[in-house]
Amino acid sequence: MGFLTAIFLGLITILVYLVLVSLIFKKEIKATFERDPAATSLPEVLLTYSGLQAIIFYRIAHRLLKMKLPFLPRLISQFARWVTGIEIHPGAVIGTSLFIDHGMGIVIGETSVIGNNVTLFQGVTLGGTGKERGKRHPTLGNNIVVGGGAKILGNVNIGDNVQIGANAVVIRNVPPNSTVVGIPGRIVKKEGKKVSGISLDHTSLPDPIAQHLDRLQDEIDHIESEIKDHHEKKSMEDS
Ligand SMILES: CC(C)(COP(=O)(O)OP(=O)(O)OC[C@H]1O[C@@H](n2cnc3c(N)ncnc32)[C@H](O)[C@@H]1OP(=O)(O)O)[C@@H](O)C(=O)NCCC(=O)NCCS
Repeated sequence: MGFLTAIFLGLITILVYLVLVSLIFKKEIKATFERDPAATSLPEVLLTYSGLQAIIFYRIAHRLLKMKLPFLPRLISQFARWVTGIEIHPGAVIGTSLFIDHGMGIVIGETSVIGNNVTLFQGVTLGGTGKERGKRHPTLGNNIVVGGGAKILGNVNIGDNVQIGANAVVIRNVPPNSTVVGIPGRIVKKEGKKVSGISLDHTSLPDPIAQHLDRLQDEIDHIESEIKDHHEKKSMEDS
């Protein structure tokens, strides 16, 4: 086979791949154009958006997992992680029109469930707490935005139309139509209205190390006072 024939066949293969991807993943591509003002052309989205590539790998791995093929689904997901920086366990269940923006550092755990029209930014974790077995990852409804760096941990339910702020850590269920921010995640808006009486003053959060040191200091003070009492008692007895 000549050099030119090889190039020609390579180009045809790429073209067929691009056409197939744009047909099969048209909802995800549409979501990309709708939600990313920086997306300008179809070839750009198909070839340079790591979020879309991660979803393509995930769909293949998930299909193979459902066919009960051993090892290969995990191999594909780890390869995808290596290429895109996005780790989606093949066992996760993901709806349509998922948009992953920037992507790097995203982890989607094995028993996660994601509805339709969800947007995830870089650094999002849908993880377990390390304590549970079985269903141990979050379930996200439809039309949800999870901001950069946010962590949603454990078997919690995130309702439809929820926004989760950048860097929030969510460990409890979130009702539909609400906005959650902070660590631990607190609802700051519900049904479009601000929720009052909620402190976002993160500097006042309890510091477990300081609390531990305080307890140790209390115990030392207590022991010191007991020793002092004991010495006083002994010197009274001696005199
Ligand atoms: C939470 C978010 C969705 C905003 O929702 P919103 O409905 O517009 O809410 P508001 O901007 O009115 O903020 C509500 C309150 O939460 C606070 N807040 C907003 N985002 C926050 C965050 N990420 N962390 C902590 N507090 C936050 C605001 O200061 C405000 O507090 P106040 O009521 O005391 O003034 C948005 O701030 C966010 O974090 N989006 C993620 C975007 C992202 O990750 N982009 C990555 C691009 S690369």
